[in-house]
Amino acid sequence: MDENKKFYVTTPIYYPSGIPHLGTSYTTIVADVVARFKRLQGYDVMFTTGTDEHGQKIEEKAKNENKTPKKYVDEIVEKYKSLWSLLNISYDKFIRTTDKSHEKAVKKIFNDLYEKGEIYKGTYKGWYCTPCEAFFTDTQLKDGNCPDCGREVNWAEEEAYFFKLSKYGDKLLDYYKKHPRFICPEGRKNEMVQFIKDGLDDLCVSRTSFKWGIPVDFDKNHVVYVWLDALTNYITSQGYGSKDDSNYKKYWPANIHFVGKEIVRFHVIIWPAILMALGLPLPEQVYGHGWILFGDGSRMAKSKGNVIDPVVLSERYGVDALRYFLMREFSFGSDGLFTNEALIKRINFDLANDLGNLLSRSVAMIEKYFGGTLPVEHKLGNIDNELALIAMKVTKKYEELMDKYNFSGALGEVWLLISKCNKYIDETMPWQLGKDEKKRSRLAAVLYNLCEVLRIVSVLIYPVMPSTSEKIWQQIGAPKDVCTWDAVSKWGELPKNIKVKKGEVLFPRIDVEKEIEALNNLYTVKKSEPKNENVVSLIDIEDFAKVKLIVAKIKQCEAVKKSKKLLKLLVDDGCGERTVVSGISQYYSPEELVGKSVILVSNLKPVKLCGVESNGMILAATCPDGGVKVIFVDGIAPGSKLS
Ligand code: ME8
Ligand code: MG
Repeated sequence: MDENKKFYVTTPIYYPSGIPHLGTSYTTIVADVVARFKRLQGYDVMFTTGTDEHGQKIEEKAKNENKTPKKYVDEIVEKYKSLWSLLNISYDKFIRTTDKSHEKAVKKIFNDLYEKGEIYKGTYKGWYCTPCEAFFTDTQLKDGNCPDCGREVNWAEEEAYFFKLSKYGDKLLDYYKKHPRFICPEGRKNEMVQFIKDGLDDLCVSRTSFKWGIPVDFDKNHVVYVWLDALTNYITSQGYGSKDDSNYKKYWPANIHFVGKEIVRFHVIIWPAILMALGLPLPEQVYGHGWILFGDGSRMAKSKGNVIDPVVLSERYGVDALRYFLMREFSFGSDGLFTNEALIKRINFDLANDLGNLLSRSVAMIEKYFGGTLPVEHKLGNIDNELALIAMKVTKKYEELMDKYNFSGALGEVWLLISKCNKYIDETMPWQLGKDEKKRSRLAAVLYNLCEVLRIVSVLIYPVMPSTSEKIWQQIGAPKDVCTWDAVSKWGELPKNIKVKKGEVLFPRIDVEKEIEALNNLYTVKKSEPKNENVVSLIDIEDFAKVKLIVAKIKQCEAVKKSKKLLKLLVDDGCGERTVVSGISQYYSPEELVGKSVILVSNLKPVKLCGVESNGMILAATCPDGGVKVIFVDGIAPGSKLS
């Protein structure tokens, strides 16, 4: 193997705060496809994935489940590993931020940056919500209160360490200019450039308000705060900062970091700045792909009738069908909508019809006419030449597109070849040739050519559908040494007298209607099971009954001083009067509201908003255009109950 042909590819390290899902599977499959493609091309590949296990969220989740954080993450990490094994993910290294070697290396990196003056001690300032143990900026507050729990916040200052991110703005812009392919796709670059031009703040890299993290070596009250801990995985996984850093020397810098678009910023601003501060080389490229959206257009919500559990999908259709669908259906880089119907259609048309039929027809004919062994001295006629030529062209195009991470385009090329080959069968009509004893050698040549295309196709689909390739090799009796990357760009590599062996149907056809119905039933059954946090959850009628809604009439109304958003309302709730504060002053003047009847949530715990106590909340609709409309119910007596 050529020593210089190394390729290092990574996925994000995922938060083990919930079970792995189709979104995390997507990035991981993408990275696996690339790793397999590069290995096929003869590269020495390092492919890493892993989990990002520290932080307050995990600490809380573990507490809710009465577990230690370590036990909590251990259990979820097992789920990640078993899903990756199910999905045939060929990672070389699974890095956990709780690995001792990672923790040691992060401490060292923190120390080094501190000694170089890149990290300094300062004060973290902001609005602090005590119950939530979280800081917020001015703009994050909601009506002056905690955006998470709605309670009062206090101005607070906490000692913290900061990384001097602010001084790297120009260096980063310069780097982008000199390395135009660093941020991909191109479209994401402008946004990043603008973000830098707006001015970078120094980055808080330590916290004292929670414990579940890597302690700062020289100041044990502090733990290292998320991104410094997470991003460094890409070098610590290779032994950076430990005794044996041979892998780091061999593989770093990474060729490609695959990430979702929401974390591109961290990977093209913070990560390169940290590397610059350490004096280390930067990764070659960061690719921020789009999101898979589900049903109702949200990123990870499950809507009725759409089953998106990768385990269920793999069980029903096979891992390769799922991998193929994800790589073929979505244009890498952009968002795409997932539907079960689209998945089933791809399986039926591309896999069962086009590819599956080509294989089963070819093998069946060789068995029927030649008892399974092709007696061939193959010669190429015009029409055969054309097929061979297309195969060579497709292979070349495929390679170019794969190198640009245009997976859908590359697979499109392969399917072009498959269609051509199916057309070749229609044109050469082997079943006619089979009727004429004198045309046996022509028949053998035609069938040989079909197997040649199948051989080439099987290699090209290998990165995406490795098990399917193996099945094809077995059925057409192709020896391994002609199923290599070198052999794929040559025609006529299959040996003489190949022996075919009919096997199972690659992809059984699916009855779309029946399957969609079955999926709907599956969903109904599953409904009562606990769901992960990404799934929109349904509530029982008892849950709803807890909310007491009544009609109330507005008697007086005035703006709350010191607030741009709040109105103070005095309402008649049928039993007496009460004060309610509502954030609608941008949409209504006090005069418009007095005398109107509205719907009041009457059993909310009182809260203080900008110094005024609010006893309930009035209902209003947030419109798609961003406007807010209060629900008026004039003519109904105050105190009337809604249910
Ligand atoms: O952000 N479509 O972890 P995370 C496509 N720990 N990709 C999706 C997706 C969707 N609907 N949902 C998730 C973190 N992803 C940090 C990363 S890296 C040093 C630290 C994928 O568990 C996508 O790759 O929130 C996204 O960036 C990642 O999962 C987020 O994983
Ligand atoms: Mg995230």
